[in-house]
Amino acid sequence: MNRYREILLDLVALLESFVRQPVECFRLLRALPQMLAGSLRARDWTAADSQKSSPALASQSNSEPSPNPFSDYFQSHTEGRGIWKLTHYLDVYQRHLAKFIGQEVHVVEIGIYSGGSLEMWKSCFGPKCKVYGVDIREECKVYAEDGVEIFIGDQEDRNFWQLFKQKVPKVDILIDDGGHLTGQQIVTLEEMLPHLQPGGVFLCEDVITVPNKFPGYIYGFSRYLNTYNYRAEDLQVDTSKFQSSIQSVHLYPYLTVIEKSPFPVNHFSLPMQGTEWRPLAAAAAAHGDEFGLR
Ligand SMILES: C[S@@+](CC[C@H](N)C(=O)[O-])C[C@H]1O[C@@H](n2cnc3c(N)ncnc32)[C@H](O)[C@@H]1O
Repeated sequence: MNRYREILLDLVALLESFVRQPVECFRLLRALPQMLAGSLRARDWTAADSQKSSPALASQSNSEPSPNPFSDYFQSHTEGRGIWKLTHYLDVYQRHLAKFIGQEVHVVEIGIYSGGSLEMWKSCFGPKCKVYGVDIREECKVYAEDGVEIFIGDQEDRNFWQLFKQKVPKVDILIDDGGHLTGQQIVTLEEMLPHLQPGGVFLCEDVITVPNKFPGYIYGFSRYLNTYNYRAEDLQVDTSKFQSSIQSVHLYPYLTVIEKSPFPVNHFSLPMQGTEWRPLAAAAAAHGDEFGLR
């Protein structure tokens, strides 16, 4: 698309956002200075800002790496159907998906290409695993086999997902490795995150900043993990419906991971453990700051 046309469309979308949701837009705008500061800090990161390695972890670097079946499978897969993954994703899979190994796990992967990754999921999760591959290309139907069902459709088409959800039970894992465009990633998340089981994990791969605007969506989405509705009398924070169901959002280079809570979380507890509290607390209480935290 012509660059000027793209900028014009962005401006129109911006104006529409202000007309539709002025208050929410204003809230987001207030975070703009800090977003800018963070952005510039990352952009201007220097080698001096990074240490070579932490002394606390030095002993670990000599020891054997912990087993990673995803990495083992990928590295030893030198023949057969192609798999195309950034290798640091394999550690992310281990961190977020290892809990499903050997379980009756339902996995959706969008983006089949040469079919190798479908085989990887089946092999790593074990015989009880059920894989649902989604691709826009009809040719991918050839990868249907025992334990692997193939669906042909456009991940940006909400009607496609409606039909998909009628045919496929709630799933545990979704890997979006499809077209990698902002609109495709957002529609997939909006349609399929609610179709993930509690405890389910949603991975969106190949989020490449320019020109992808998915990170902006994720910024707005994850802000709501931080809403705070504190009830002092019970020393607890009541959760919103969102906080009750979404446990965490993780950002890795080019990869966003969302974990759903394994069970509904009605509140976060904030107990005060111990008997000694800093002298400041008493003085602050006299000024109406109950806990001397401000
Ligand atoms: C990066 S490849 C997938 C690689 C594969 N997962 C692997 O690990 O080897 C991307 C795939 O996404 C498919 N694709 C592109 N746009 C799509 C869309 N809008 N909906 C569904 N699939 C799409 C392409 O046909 C292609 O097969």
